[in-house]
Amino acid sequence: MTESTVQSNQLNQQDDTTHFGFETVAKQEKVTRVAEVFHSVAAKYDIMNDLMSGGVHRLWKRFTIDCSGARPGQRILDLGGGTGDLTAKFSRIVGDKGHVILADINNSMLNVGRDKLRDTGIVGNVHYVQANAEELPFPDNYFDCITISFCLRNVTDKDKALRSMFRVLKPGGRLLVLEFSKPIVEPLSKVYDAYSFHLLPKMGELVANDAESYRYLAESIRMHPDQDTLEGMMQEAGFEQTKYYNLTGGIVALHRGYKF
Ligand SMILES: C[S@@+](CC[C@H](N)C(=O)[O-])C[C@H]1O[C@@H](n2cnc3c(N)ncnc32)[C@H](O)[C@@H]1O
Repeated sequence: MTESTVQSNQLNQQDDTTHFGFETVAKQEKVTRVAEVFHSVAAKYDIMNDLMSGGVHRLWKRFTIDCSGARPGQRILDLGGGTGDLTAKFSRIVGDKGHVILADINNSMLNVGRDKLRDTGIVGNVHYVQANAEELPFPDNYFDCITISFCLRNVTDKDKALRSMFRVLKPGGRLLVLEFSKPIVEPLSKVYDAYSFHLLPKMGELVANDAESYRYLAESIRMHPDQDTLEGMMQEAGFEQTKYYNLTGGIVALHRGYKF
C-alpha cells in the first residue's frame, strides 16, 4: 500500500466516503455495489475460484484450517463464508458436539453455500446466518475460532468489523484472516498485475458473463491494506500475538491473532 493510499484511507474514515475498487463512493453505495457483485457471481463463484487460482485457493484454505487449531466440540464462525469451503472442513472437525456458523451478508452466496453443503451431506452441526461483519448478532465471548476468508476486503468499515469479531471471540480464541495481500517479489508483482487487470475480467466475462465484478476483484485487492497495515489494524482492535504468513509470494496472506 502506498503512502497516498494510506492517507486517503485515513481521510475516508473521517467522512462518508470509501473505496469501491479504485472509485471513491459513498459508504452506503459500496454496500449496495458489493451486494450486487456477489448476487451476480454467486452461481459461478466456485468454478471461477478454481479457474482463477488454478485450484490453489484450496491449498490456502487447507493451510487456514491447519492453523485454526479447531478441535471436536468447538464453536466456530466462518464469517463471509460464502459458498462454505471452510465451513465444510470445520463441520467435519468439530463433530456432533461442535457447532459451525456460516455467516454472510449476502443471501445469494448463503443459498449457494447451504445447497452445496447439504448436497454433500453436511447437516446437523452447521447453521446459516445472514449478518454484516460490522455488527455480528452473537453474544460476547462466544466462538473458539473465527475465520474470515477473502471477505474483509469487501467490508466497508474494516476496523469496526475487527472490533466486532474481537467481541464475539472467547478469551483464548483465535481469529484467522485469509485475504489477498501485497506480493513480496517485484517480478511476481508485474506478472500478477497483468494477469489480474487483463485476464481476470476476460475470464469473468466468458464464464460468469460479468467482467465488471472481476475488474472490481482486481481493484479491491490493490486497495486492501498490506500485510503490516492489516496486522496493525488487528492489534488496534485488541488482538494479541499477531502474526502473518505470506502464501504464494504474498499474493495471499494469512493473518492470525488471539483474544486474551
Ligand atoms: C470472495 S467471497 C469469499 C467466500 C468464502 N469465504 C471463500 O473464501 O471462498 C466474499 C464473501 O464475503 C461476503 N461479504 C462481503 N461483505 C460482507 C460483510 N460486510 N459482512 C459479511 N459478509 C460479507 C460476500 O457476500 C461474499 O460471500
